[in-house]
Amino acid sequence: MRSYRIALLPGDGIGKEVIPAAVKVLEAARDLARDFAKDSTRDSMRGPAEDFTLSFQEFEWGCEYYLRTGRMMPEDGLEQLRPFDAIFLGAIGHPTVPDHVSLRDLLLRIRFGFDLYVNLRPVEILPGLELALRGKTAADINMLFVRENSEGEYCGMGGRFKRGTEDEVAIQQSVFTRKGVERVLRYAFERARRRRKRLASATKSNAMQYTMVLWDEVLRQVARDYPEVGVSNYHVDALAARMITHPETLDVVVGSNLFADILTDLGGALQGSLGLAASANLNPTERLGPPMFEPVHGSAPDIEGRGIANPIAAIWTASLMMEHLGEPAAAERIFSALKAVTGEGKVRTPDLGGNNTTQQFAAAVIEKLVPPIC
Ligand code: NAI
Ligand code: MG
Repeated sequence: MRSYRIALLPGDGIGKEVIPAAVKVLEAARDLARDFAKDSTRDSMRGPAEDFTLSFQEFEWGCEYYLRTGRMMPEDGLEQLRPFDAIFLGAIGHPTVPDHVSLRDLLLRIRFGFDLYVNLRPVEILPGLELALRGKTAADINMLFVRENSEGEYCGMGGRFKRGTEDEVAIQQSVFTRKGVERVLRYAFERARRRRKRLASATKSNAMQYTMVLWDEVLRQVARDYPEVGVSNYHVDALAARMITHPETLDVVVGSNLFADILTDLGGALQGSLGLAASANLNPTERLGPPMFEPVHGSAPDIEGRGIANPIAAIWTASLMMEHLGEPAAAERIFSALKAVTGEGKVRTPDLGGNNTTQQFAAAVIEKLVPPIC
């Protein structure tokens, strides 16, 4: 029997609402698989057993923890996380703690510390949801963003000089390494090869003549290994416009840490709400620690504590997690149940114009989970 240990980091605000909801869905999917596995030992005609267990351990790290202890996570936090098979994170950040502290001391520490250099973000339209774009159909919007997640503009190098005076200077460095650029581009080409064989890259080499020119050079070099993939290199501003005017021309999109961060919030808006966008932080080539799965949205302090946050992003993220753990059938079952609920359009949270709660939505998804029947 395969068993997976998941570290839960609900974090702050609505993270504490959407993660428990998504965990209920995961538990229901696990229980279905377990019951089926028991059954199928008696009746071998029913196909291969989907034999896995999931266990969860919760960590209360985040802004409340910071206010109590002066740290976002314990000093040995990464060591505590390392033995897990995956991290499932809600959102980090609260008005009580400066965002650059909360982001850097928790989220970025995990991404950088475990060298999770790919941030994967699907942008697709779920059935039953209205399109934000006029004149387009759901079939026109199906992109997979590959965001560089380990260096670039978010490397945190720089400083402030003559702080608080009229002569103050702030310097924020970007770091682009040939290795770092090459590995994320290679991953994007691999994904493109398995999809529609089309890759768009976000650059800005007209204005940034060192980092982005290196990015473009490595792109051309890696492209030679993937002759079957058609490559387009767009300036990031033009790419943002293209996402609105010609989304159907985009499939896999690769960009630096900052560029793809911005473009994927636009992707979330195209999907209809930030409450829909899912993501995975991965290291596809070596394991320094567990991969981390998180909805793209933040802690939404404007709606926290009301039980109305949309759990779709978290549930979709849970499905991505199962896929990457090596349980594609369970992943598909969760995603299908999610699509069945949005498709019916009966249960919706307020961000999508409904009046249901987070828990009601999750319960509806659980009801739609079907046992693995062959
Ligand atoms: P946000 O994503 O928390 O909220 C932006 C808007 O979208 C708000 O109006 C919010 O109500 C809505 N929204 C977001 N998720 C939703 C959901 N699941 N259901 C319904 N509505 C939803 O971004 P904001 O306001 O810029 O940041 C709030 C805090 O979250 C800040 O402290 C920020 O640093 C942090 N943050 C953390 C992230 C992370 O942990 N990965 C990502 C983005 C922001
Ligand atoms: Mg963002």
